[in-house]
Amino acid sequence: MIDLHPLVIHFAIAPLALTLLFQYAVLKWPDRGLQYPAQYSLWVGLVGAVAAVITGILTARGVPADSPAQATIFNHRLAGFVTLGYFVLYLLLRRWLLARYTGRPALFLVLAIIGLGIVVTTGFFGGELVYTFGIGVGGTVP
Ligand code: HEM
Repeated sequence: MIDLHPLVIHFAIAPLALTLLFQYAVLKWPDRGLQYPAQYSLWVGLVGAVAAVITGILTARGVPADSPAQATIFNHRLAGFVTLGYFVLYLLLRRWLLARYTGRPALFLVLAIIGLGIVVTTGFFGGELVYTFGIGVGGTVP
């Protein structure tokens, strides 16, 4: 089985980081048309996150149950699901939030910082799996 996870994760991490930054920029500079890249990067990021979760679960199935990496896989998987959940919630609430709080970019800055923190935490644990435990390196995953 080809490990597609390293291929798709970038389509989650980069757009999800961008959508938050674009959203904050929209509120700082409302007349620059940045609401479109904010919206489109959120959609692309969500599709990427769904693909990352699916391919991650498939890859993790190949890791032996007694592997010392299992605790980190648990943390990474949890962070991956929190990432997906947070941005689905953000997608659902975004319009409502924009309608109520357009005048308060600080709220979106807080949402951006929380979102970026979750994405970075997911990536950190994923990196641990590869660079500390060698998962996915040199055929350690089927
Ligand atoms: C939004 C969701 C997710 C993101 C952004 C993400 C991101 C990452 C990153 C950045 C790496 C390191 C890759 C590298 O440096 O080459 C990684 C590795 C890994 N992730 Fe995820 N991940 C996500 C969800 C999941 C889930 C739900 C699982 C299921 C357990 C998972 C399992 C793995 C495994 C086993 C590795 C190491 C082997 C490999 O690189 O394929 N990931 N992930």
